Amino acid sequence: MKLFIDSAKIEEIQKLEDLGVIDGITTNPTLASVTGKKFKDLVSEIFETLSKDRIINLEVIATDYDNILKQARALAALDSRVVVKIPCIPDGLKACKKLSEEGIRVNITLVFSPMQALLCAKMGAFYVSPFVGRLDDISMDGMDVISEIVKIYKNYEYKTQILFASVRSVEHIRLAALAGVDIVTSPYNFIMEMYNHPLTDKGLAQFLEDWKNAGEEFIAV
Ligand code: G3P
Repeated sequence: MKLFIDSAKIEEIQKLEDLGVIDGITTNPTLASVTGKKFKDLVSEIFETLSKDRIINLEVIATDYDNILKQARALAALDSRVVVKIPCIPDGLKACKKLSEEGIRVNITLVFSPMQALLCAKMGAFYVSPFVGRLDDISMDGMDVISEIVKIYKNYEYKTQILFASVRSVEHIRLAALAGVDIVTSPYNFIMEMYNHPLTDKGLAQFLEDWKNAGEEFIAV
């Protein structure tokens, strides 16, 4: 399973890039706007921060076919690592088909139902991004939507990859992995939480204490 960070904060992206744990990033207009940086400058910084084999999801803000095409082509031309995020609306899906035929990878975002996901696959999307947390937020079951998308894609052997988005907990990441999604995009804090277990901390403290008490010396390094 690939792991992306859902953030436009350079410090967070840099930390996870340094740890070598992420395969890419997702951004959206909200995440970009809270940085307070000009989008152009932010994008340049993101390109510099991430290594060559990472995936960088950048989103259009146009909502009509012609302008979605223009913005998507402009984003894709910036860097070979870019996957273009386009909202799940009729013009967006029409543009997805055209762009996919041109070899531009598209991530259809703001997906909330298996039927939307079916259309994304039919239109050649590279990624489909179901927003699980936002469904849970309104007392629907986001995981049910994920399970149905996984089943539908298997039934028809669609190549579109499922990108589990809108993560609200580490538990979401565990459930996503069990469901067999291709990618999870998570905020920084939940990725860091994945490392944690109290028994790891306790066990390590004990190892170091026992070593110290024994007056041992490590091999020459
Ligand atoms: O990248 C988009 C998605 O992950 C949004 O998450 O937390 O705003 O629902 P959230």
